[in-house]
Amino acid sequence: MQIGILGSGLMGGKLGTLFARAGHDVVFSYARSEEKLKRLAREAQGNARAGTPVDAARDADALLLAVHWSRVDDVLKQAGNVSNKVIVSCSLPMNADNTDLVIAHTSSGAEALAKKLRRARVVSAFGTVPSEVLFGVFEAKRKANRPSLVYCGDDHDAKDVAATLIRDVGFDPVDAGPLRIARHMEPFALLVAQLAYETDGGPELAYRFERRAK
Ligand SMILES: NC(=O)c1ccc[n+]([C@@H]2O[C@H](COP(=O)([O-])OP(=O)(O)OC[C@H]3O[C@@H](n4cnc5c(N)ncnc54)[C@H](OP(=O)(O)O)[C@@H]3O)[C@@H](O)[C@H]2O)c1
Repeated sequence: MQIGILGSGLMGGKLGTLFARAGHDVVFSYARSEEKLKRLAREAQGNARAGTPVDAARDADALLLAVHWSRVDDVLKQAGNVSNKVIVSCSLPMNADNTDLVIAHTSSGAEALAKKLRRARVVSAFGTVPSEVLFGVFEAKRKANRPSLVYCGDDHDAKDVAATLIRDVGFDPVDAGPLRIARHMEPFALLVAQLAYETDGGPELAYRFERRAK
C-alpha cells in the first residue's frame, strides 16, 4: 500500500519507518524541518520519501494522522482533499500540556475528526500504545503471543486496511467496534500512558487481551 504520514514525530516517524520496513511505500510529511523528513525517509530502509502533506495524501491508500490535537486543522488544511481516503488516526484530543482529554464521555477525538472529514473514512488505531514500544513489537513480530492493539471505525474496508497495518507492525488487531468506541479507547490510552511514563517499569509497554476458555 501507499501510506502517507501526516505528522512525522514520535509516532508518525516510527510507524512510517515500520510500514516501510514491512514493504509499504511511505511518504513522510509534516515536521518543522524538511531535513528531518528526508532523514526519516533515508533511514527507513524501505521505499520511503519525504514530501508535503498534499504529496502524502495524493495517491495514498491510507493516511496516518499523527499530530498533536492542536495541529490537526493545520495539517488537514495542508493535505487538501482527503475525500474517500482511509485516515488512521493515533491522535488523541489532548489539551496543550498533554494532561487531559479535551473531548470525552459524550464524544471522542476520532468522532470529532470524522465530523470534520465527512467524506473520509476514519479509523482510530495506534493511539493506545507508547511510541517507545513500537520497534520492540516489530522486532518480536515472529514470536507467539503478540501484544493486542485495539482499533475502531465505521467503515468495514477502512478497518481492514488498519488491521493490516496493525498486523504489519507486529500487533494482534482487536476490533473494538464502531467509531464511537473511541470514547472508551481514548481514556484507555491515558491509562496506558500513565503506566508507561509514571511508573518504574518504563515506557516500552504494550498490552494483551486474552479470552479464557470456559
Ligand atoms: N508519543 C506517543 O507515545 C503517543 C502515543 C499515543 C498517541 N499519541 C498521539 O499521537 C499524536 C502524535 O504524537 P507524537 O508524540 O508523535 O507527537 P510529536 O512527536 O510532537 O509529532 C508531531 C509531528 O508534528 C510536527 N509538527 C508540530 N507542529 C508543526 C508545525 N507547526 N509545522 C509542521 N510540523 C509540525 C512535529 O514536527 P517536529 O518533528 O519538527 O517536531 C512532529 O513531526 C498526538 O495526538 C498524541 O496525543 C502519542
